[in-house]
Amino acid sequence: MLNAIGSKIDLSVPDSECGYYELVSDLLDSEVVQQMQQYMHHGHTTCFQHCLNVSYYNYLLCKLLSLDCRAGARAGLLHDLFLYDWHDYVKVKGQRMHGWTHAGTALANVRKYFSITPMEADIIEKHMFPMNIALPKYRETVVIICVDKICGAWEVVAHWGYLMKLLATYPVRKHRERLAEKGTAEKAA
Ligand SMILES: [Fe+2]
Ligand SMILES: [Fe+2]
Repeated sequence: MLNAIGSKIDLSVPDSECGYYELVSDLLDSEVVQQMQQYMHHGHTTCFQHCLNVSYYNYLLCKLLSLDCRAGARAGLLHDLFLYDWHDYVKVKGQRMHGWTHAGTALANVRKYFSITPMEADIIEKHMFPMNIALPKYRETVVIICVDKICGAWEVVAHWGYLMKLLATYPVRKHRERLAEKGTAEKAA
């Protein structure tokens, strides 16, 4: 089951009402897109999940605005296909330019594995605007510039919410652990 953040719709199965799966099923099945599951992106959100979030909300917004929702969905799913953990990239390689360079890296990777339209290339290449100064050529690119930032912020907030919940429930979990240990010790005695 695949869900975008904040949505309960299963994006891994055909759904004629939603229509999203049909546009991206070949990408979802591809090995290189699945590889993004290995890399953490924002908090406990993987690169794959982040791209799925952006892709789905790109799709919905483009559809709402009568724009090219196919390009929005497909380029959204591929926009961060840089295939490394950017936390390590900074720590191990000592480079701090990931924010500026990864859109170009993702586009080069996408061209290696998939055939894309000029609009999809523009969406991927310029999604980091204004960090990458090149101006968007299509309205669909403006959509991802906004959606990517909103999803990124949402994922970070969700991560902090998750950590706060862990912290808040710590005494209860610890108490249950102690009770369980006590029960085991009593049984053994
Ligand atoms: Fe990005
Ligand atoms: Fe992104």
